[in-house]
Amino acid sequence: MWKIPVASADVTGKEEEYVVEAIRSSWISSSGAFVDRFEKEFSELCDTKHALSCANGTVALHLAILGLGLRPGDEVIVPSMTYIATANAVRYCGAEPVFIDIDPNTWCMDPTQIEEAITPRTRGIIAVHLLGHPADMDAINEIASIHGLWVVEDAAEAHFALYKGKPVGSLGSAATFSFFGNKLFTCGEGGAVTVNSDQLSLRLKTLRGQGMDPRKRYYFPVIGYNYRLTNVACAMLCAQLERRSEIMSRRIEIFQRYNEGLAQIPGVRLQPIASWATHSPWMHAVLIDSTEYGRTRDEVISGLAAKGIDSRPFFVPIHTLPPYQNSPVVRDLLPHTDFLGSSGLMLPTYNALTNEDIDTVVHIISELSTARLRRAA
Ligand SMILES: Cc1ncc(COP(=O)(O)O)c(C=O)c1O
Repeated sequence: MWKIPVASADVTGKEEEYVVEAIRSSWISSSGAFVDRFEKEFSELCDTKHALSCANGTVALHLAILGLGLRPGDEVIVPSMTYIATANAVRYCGAEPVFIDIDPNTWCMDPTQIEEAITPRTRGIIAVHLLGHPADMDAINEIASIHGLWVVEDAAEAHFALYKGKPVGSLGSAATFSFFGNKLFTCGEGGAVTVNSDQLSLRLKTLRGQGMDPRKRYYFPVIGYNYRLTNVACAMLCAQLERRSEIMSRRIEIFQRYNEGLAQIPGVRLQPIASWATHSPWMHAVLIDSTEYGRTRDEVISGLAAKGIDSRPFFVPIHTLPPYQNSPVVRDLLPHTDFLGSSGLMLPTYNALTNEDIDTVVHIISELSTARLRRAA
C-alpha cells in the first residue's frame, strides 16, 4: 500500500446513488436513461452534435478511425509520445502508424513534421492532446485539409481542455475520450467518441452495436463490434459531470501548488502551456533534467517510492517498442520524444491529495537533488 498513490478516483458525489438507481431500474446493459443523459450532456460540453459512449478510450479510437474509412495498407500519422492505444487502434484496422516527433513547447505532435510524413497511402492524422494540453489543431487541420486527410483528436487525457477557447472534442473529424479510473472524469472503464457529422455518427453507432443498423433491428449491413458502454457506467459519468467545476477547480489548485514548489528546484522543468491553450489538469507532469538536477528521473521514482509515494515515468516512445520498431518514422530520429520518454515524470494527482501531501512530494524531490549535491561537495 502506498502512503500517497499516483491516482485515486473522486467518486464522492451522487455516483453511488445513480448506480443504485440504474440497477434498480433493471436497465443495466447498454440502453437506459443514463446513457441518453450522458451522451447528451457530454456532446453539449464538447460543443459537438453527437457523443457516443463506448467501452473504453481504445475502442473509441478504433471506432473513430474505422468509421472514417481506414483500411488495411493505409497509413496514419501519429506522435510517438502517446499511450500505446493510439498506435494499436491503427494496427487493429490493418493500417500502419507513421511516427513523428513532438513539439517541446506543447509536448504534442509537431505540425511542421506532418507534411514530410505524408505518402500516397496516408489517410489521416491522430492528434493526441497529451497530458491535458491540446495539440496545435489549426496548424494540423490546415495541413490535413490541403492533403484531404481526416483528423482524429485523441483527447483521452484532456477532458474539457480548450484550444483557442474551443473545447477539445470539437476540433477535428472526430475525437475520442477515455474514462479509465485514473482519468479526470471516470466510470472505471469507459470512453466516448464525439462527432459533428450525422452520417459519421450513424456509422459509428452501427459499428459500436455489432454492425446492426440502428434504424432496423437485426439487420446487419456490416460486421461491427460490441463496443457499447453500460447504463450503470453512464450513471457514474452523469454524477461526475454534475460535479465538473468542483472536480476541475480542486485539480487546478493542486497543479498551482505543485508548480509553485517545483519551480524552485533546479533541473525540474514544468509542463509548458501554450498561450492559446487552456490545459486540463489531469496528471501533474515534469521533466527531470538530470545534468542540472543531479539525478535521473528513475532515481527520483525510486526515491519517492522509498518514502511510500507512487509516481509514473512517461510512456516509452512507441517507435522503440517491439511491435512498432519497423514502422515508418519521419526523420529517423525523434529527439524530443526520446527526451520526454527518458526524463518525464508524473506525480500523484487526485482530488483527495492534501496540500501537505503535495508539499511532502515537493520536499522529497528537492531533498533528493540537494542530497546528491551535498555528497558531491
Ligand atoms: C492518449 C491515450 N489514448 C488512448 C487511451 C486509451 O484509453 P483506455 O485506457 O480507456 O482504453 C489512453 C489511456 O489511458 C491514453 O492516455
